[in-house]
Amino acid sequence: MQLLDGKFVSEKLKQQIAIEAAEILDKTGRKPHLVAILVGHDGGSETYVASKIKNCEKVGFNSTLYRYESSITEDELLKKIDEINQDPETDGILVQLPLPKHISADKVTEKISPEKDVDGFHPVNLGRMQRNLPSFLPATPYGILLMLQEYGIDTSGKHCVVIGRSNIVGSPMSILMARNTNPGNCTVTICHSKTPDIKKFSLDADILIVAIGKKNFVTADMVKEGAIVIDVGMNREISTETKSGYKLYGDVDFENVAPKASWITPVPGGVGLMTIVGLLKNTLASAKKEIY
Ligand code: GUN
Repeated sequence: MQLLDGKFVSEKLKQQIAIEAAEILDKTGRKPHLVAILVGHDGGSETYVASKIKNCEKVGFNSTLYRYESSITEDELLKKIDEINQDPETDGILVQLPLPKHISADKVTEKISPEKDVDGFHPVNLGRMQRNLPSFLPATPYGILLMLQEYGIDTSGKHCVVIGRSNIVGSPMSILMARNTNPGNCTVTICHSKTPDIKKFSLDADILIVAIGKKNFVTADMVKEGAIVIDVGMNREISTETKSGYKLYGDVDFENVAPKASWITPVPGGVGLMTIVGLLKNTLASAKKEIY
């Protein structure tokens, strides 16, 4: 078994991003600028947004965080997004999900200008992605592609099984792995909550990507010998063992699955760190006007 080391790869790629950010500053007098919007006080979202902002600073980007209480109305939020859409000093906008129930995530997602949609969630970017046109790729699937690329893993012709069909990970990941690109060119199966026997499919996976949000969902008996296992799970549990008071668990029973896998991502230290790299690369691409 070999580790797909998100810490190592993300640090390496962030160094390259920092060099490019410095070049942009040199040429244009301004830094790439990400605006993040956080509504409410969800513990996980607080942590993820703080990490995005901290990493912007690390690579020499500007960042702005707008925080709102859950009482903000949908209209107020949509107006704020419109304002940022118009701001020439902003390259990327992200609204951290999930949002409170009275705000439609779909409306918010569609309000963000596709040209600043560094989360890659806007239907225009998703459509362009599916057509293999230049687009912002959703950050987590993008981070996974970068990881596979970095380790030189050949995915062509392999059977990729994606467990989970979320808008954020499973659905775009399945499209990306099936595209005529490298990484890509897989035969893709998507499993989800209504799949009667996930094990039947997962056992045939050369590449198994798990984004179902359930601790230890994938057990050793569900994995083929020599499979590549990518664990997108970010299941937070209260813990007395860590400084933060929380411990992170993946969707894969790492201890028992790792001996069977050829490559595997740990949690923490795997996909989560690569998601940030995906977001930073999208913001950089926006500042360089590489997509639009
Ligand atoms: N919530 C969970 N993952 C993400 C992400 O990649 N972007 C945003 N905006 N919210 C999320």
